[in-house]
Amino acid sequence: MKTTPKIAIYPGSFDPVTNGHIHLIERSLKIFDILIVAVAINPRKIPLFSREERIFLLQQSLAMHDPARIKIDSFTGLLVDYAKSQKAHVVIRGLRAVSDFEFEFQMANMNRHLNADIETVFMMTGEEAFYISSSFIRDVAAFGGSVKRMVPTCVNDMLLKKFAT
Ligand code: PNS
Repeated sequence: MKTTPKIAIYPGSFDPVTNGHIHLIERSLKIFDILIVAVAINPRKIPLFSREERIFLLQQSLAMHDPARIKIDSFTGLLVDYAKSQKAHVVIRGLRAVSDFEFEFQMANMNRHLNADIETVFMMTGEEAFYISSSFIRDVAAFGGSVKRMVPTCVNDMLLKKFAT
């Protein structure tokens, strides 16, 4: 009997992708058959990395994984509408610290209100990545600090180029 693959979406700004994201993606692949890593495009925000750069960095960082199980995409508009279009019923989000909880709790409930067929699954970020966030990475890199051990090599290289004086 053929079973339907379990598809999950891991949405985020990924501006840029960090080792924390990669770790979570790898753990999600142990649970779900297909993972869609979806770069959210918010027209009201000016990102450091363009849509194309964020997708390229994710592709480079995840190149070692089976392309049949991982899709890198982008979306605008509501996450629940995008999830429905991809036939995904699960949204994955990482929780680093208690401070993430309130926003994530609100977002999960808003998404469930918008579409009760889509469930949010939270994964605890490992202790090696709980202090890493894309915004810290951008800040530290902008002021010349080293983020080498917190991001994939391709991200570090691009940050160095962006902030080269
Ligand atoms: O990496 P981030 O910035 O924490 O990701 C947040 C993201 C992109 C997942 C969230 O802002 C989102 O889902 N945006 C799409 C618009 C949407 O569906 N908003 C309603 C849910 S609150």
